[in-house]
Amino acid sequence: MKDSIILKKLVALADENIVSFHVPGHKNGKVYKKCKNHILNNDLLSLDVTEIPETDNLHAPEEMIKKAQEMAAKFFGAEQTFFLINGTSTGNISALMAVANPNEKVIIPRDCHKSIMHGCILGGLVPVYVYPEVSMEHNISMGIKAETIEKAIQENLDAKAVVLTYPNYYGICSDIEAIEKVVHKYEKILIVDEAHGSHLNLSKALPIDAIDAGADIVIQSTHKTLSSFTQSSMLHVKSKRVDIDRLRFMLMMNQSSSPSYLLMTSLDEARNVAERDGKALMNKLLANINDFHEKISKISGMKVFDERLVGKYGIKHIDRTRLVIDLTDLGISGTQLEVLLRKKYGIQVEMSDMKNIVAVCTIGNTRDDFEKLLKALVNIKEKNAKKVIKTEKITVLQRTPKINILPRDAAFANKKEIKFEESAGKTSGEYIIPYPPGIPVVCPGEEITKEIIEYVKTLKESDINIMGLDDNHLEKIKVIE
Ligand SMILES: Cc1ncc(COP(=O)(O)O)c(C=O)c1O
Repeated sequence: MKDSIILKKLVALADENIVSFHVPGHKNGKVYKKCKNHILNNDLLSLDVTEIPETDNLHAPEEMIKKAQEMAAKFFGAEQTFFLINGTSTGNISALMAVANPNEKVIIPRDCHKSIMHGCILGGLVPVYVYPEVSMEHNISMGIKAETIEKAIQENLDAKAVVLTYPNYYGICSDIEAIEKVVHKYEKILIVDEAHGSHLNLSKALPIDAIDAGADIVIQSTHKTLSSFTQSSMLHVKSKRVDIDRLRFMLMMNQSSSPSYLLMTSLDEARNVAERDGKALMNKLLANINDFHEKISKISGMKVFDERLVGKYGIKHIDRTRLVIDLTDLGISGTQLEVLLRKKYGIQVEMSDMKNIVAVCTIGNTRDDFEKLLKALVNIKEKNAKKVIKTEKITVLQRTPKINILPRDAAFANKKEIKFEESAGKTSGEYIIPYPPGIPVVCPGEEITKEIIEYVKTLKESDINIMGLDDNHLEKIKVIE
């Protein structure tokens, strides 16, 4: 426990058995001790403290939290690291609010996570969208090319920052080094939503991590791909372009004033484990994944994303720890495969779409996990293989509609529901996001056109899910009054 900065202190405090007339109300877990056999009657609760003189303060750290953040910064290669207790979502929102003022532009991927849009709403920012490449073969959005970003910057020289999602949900990595060069050539700030990439610095065999690639602000969901508790993330800064005091203020404003010490301890421990054992564990994981790829490649009808994608669709690297598996050649859609794996084989994958399942593999997985997955897939093939199913080929509208009002104004505006068929010329109050590929056709504040109505009608006739609306059937849509 030498490098367990926060945990060591919390255990010592718990051992003191202090009489608590302080929050939290469970009083070091005593409430649960009063209930017979309650599952929360365990040691963890004695560590769930709040700010008292010995426990430092996340929003103005001077002692153990400061030390733990400094050790994280050192490990992840940053100049400064902030622990986040409301996920990468708060990090994204705060980063955007730190780098641009209301009515200033930021360049963001059209298929970004909703927290990026929320950052634009809360910050009153003007989004300029860049579109990722889309693979019709895989039905998903892929990388963003550096030239796409350069064009957007040239057309919007007043933009303050560029946001990149890296890697994406499918482990797809754009050419971040080329993008970094472009963004900094024009003196813009590069914010990387690395929600799916906190593990990248554990092996040279993995894609370069965003801090190493020269990004200014990087936000990682440590809870997704390393080992901290759900909702805990880190924001790293390595830049002379970022106003740190303003960023600190935004983080303080957007996060709880009662940050969870369990979450903060788990961040410190995630760093501790990664630093001590991470490289060895990652080597083992990658060996297991390589073995899985080798075995599955010998089974006809099973496709897995691999390096053969590199060089296409703006892809520079593939994160091997994301297994994207497609059994549609065996007549099984991604959605069906997810359900089969869960119901019949006790395996839960991260998500599925029409074609693929996505499995998140971390240093927590064992060889046995991969053997079970492979066995299940083989079994599914034997039992279910019938016919080749045709998945819908998608066409994508790669054009942002006219923006009538900013996302912030759209969020606060009064809305009324009208028939979707009759909405041409109106300003949308909702998102229309066909999934796949998850690229919005319309965002709140944008003008609905006849072309969009026709396009969405053709999507409705196919299997494609349309998300973002209160009325899932899209008979009706909310528009700005
Ligand atoms: C690309 C991306 N960014 C941000 C987030 C939000 O991360 P968190 O759950 O840590 O708030 C997600 C969550 O799935 C995501 O996929």
